Amino acid sequence: MKLWGGRFTKPTNQLVDEYTASITFDQQMWRQDIVGSLAHVAMLGKCGILPMDEVKQIINGLKKVKEKIERGQVTFTVANEDVHMNIEKLLIDEIGPVGGKLHTGRSRNDQVALDMHLYLREKMMEIIQLAMYLQKALVNQAENHLDTVMPGYTHLQRAQPVLLGYHLTAYVSMLQRDIERLQESWKRVNVLPLGAGALAGTTFPIDREFVAEMLAFDGIYVNSMDAVSDRDFIVEFLSASALLMTHLSRMCEELIIWSSQEFNFIELDDAFCTGSSIMPQKKNPDVAELVRGKTGRVYGNLFGLLTVLKGLPLAYNKDMQEDKEGMFDTVSTLHGALALLTPMMETMQVRKERMRQAVTNDFANATDLADYLAAKGLPFRQAHEVVGKAVLYCIQNGKYLLDCSLEEFKSFSPLVEEDIYNRLDVDTVVNARNVLGGTARNQVEKQIATFREKLVVT
Ligand code: ARG
Repeated sequence: MKLWGGRFTKPTNQLVDEYTASITFDQQMWRQDIVGSLAHVAMLGKCGILPMDEVKQIINGLKKVKEKIERGQVTFTVANEDVHMNIEKLLIDEIGPVGGKLHTGRSRNDQVALDMHLYLREKMMEIIQLAMYLQKALVNQAENHLDTVMPGYTHLQRAQPVLLGYHLTAYVSMLQRDIERLQESWKRVNVLPLGAGALAGTTFPIDREFVAEMLAFDGIYVNSMDAVSDRDFIVEFLSASALLMTHLSRMCEELIIWSSQEFNFIELDDAFCTGSSIMPQKKNPDVAELVRGKTGRVYGNLFGLLTVLKGLPLAYNKDMQEDKEGMFDTVSTLHGALALLTPMMETMQVRKERMRQAVTNDFANATDLADYLAAKGLPFRQAHEVVGKAVLYCIQNGKYLLDCSLEEFKSFSPLVEEDIYNRLDVDTVVNARNVLGGTARNQVEKQIATFREKLVVT
């Protein structure tokens, strides 16, 4: 017998049961469902809507149901459709018809919205914490590499020398915005929808403030139709997650390139790589590749939910049950990625010499020759032209700028003096960018200090 079976004359088709049920996935929220019910029934007692002895029976019943679920003594059934009705049914089985009073002044529409808010506010906190651990691992590596020079790239062509510590701090900075986006959205997650009823509020004299306080919500939805109709708080989470995955994916792409034999800049620890079933020599960066690959599903989850919502009339529509799987999937995908990238970055080995070689046997100091000439009064546009010609000369003669004699330099421009050799040295080039946000060592130290201060994980 269905909890809503009264107006029906025959049982639902078995396929309909299977098609409309959400219990296979929303059972993940069973704890939130019970917590929400405990607060709801306590409020019913406090407001005199239910007598205290019945409230106590229901609370004890819910506790027994909780223990049974924890002990694995419960099987959720598709016949009971979703987590809310499964638990209500278990309660009634446990304490009898009085259990049927729990749903007084409540609808599954505000109930499910409550469960999602409770679930997400907790998971977002976990994700923020995991992102901070990754930041910490990156900051530590950045500190290890305040004198490791490497090519900075544009168009994946060597551009200007930078510190590896600087490159890594760029990702710390992106993660910082991701964390702040999640924190900002969290404010809109931590709002109570319960009390909205099905869509119009309820005829019972409930106390929403009391429930909000008990469940530690910072606010209450102002309009009840809005409270049960929107899932924008989930969209915001999915959107912040999509950006976070974008950053992780780009970082992974670089780890993959850097660990190729062609680059050979880094070596990922054996514990975070896998082998080939046929090629015995292989060591593949599978984790980084999978993070890059799984970014697709996180984007998909965002677009899935946006699309579900776009044509829905107010208020609740069953379409909205489709909000869950994408949200669960995004939570677990982020968990997996962040939890693995942190130790992977902690254990990453850097081939400093190889990085230095890549940036010294190169023209990455060409901008600095142009800057040198411009600082001596030559218009930068002309300096650019002069250095372009100098680079061409070097390429044609099989050398780099620092291989040129002073005579050769003077043939490019008479403004060049002996001090050019020190000026074009890779360490000088890096430290010459001593402006706020630049790659000079002391600037990177400042950047690191800025992020360290924000890190609240130990
Ligand atoms: N399982 C449903 C969902 O996830 C719960 C809300 C059902 N409400 C309703 N009016 N059928 O959306």
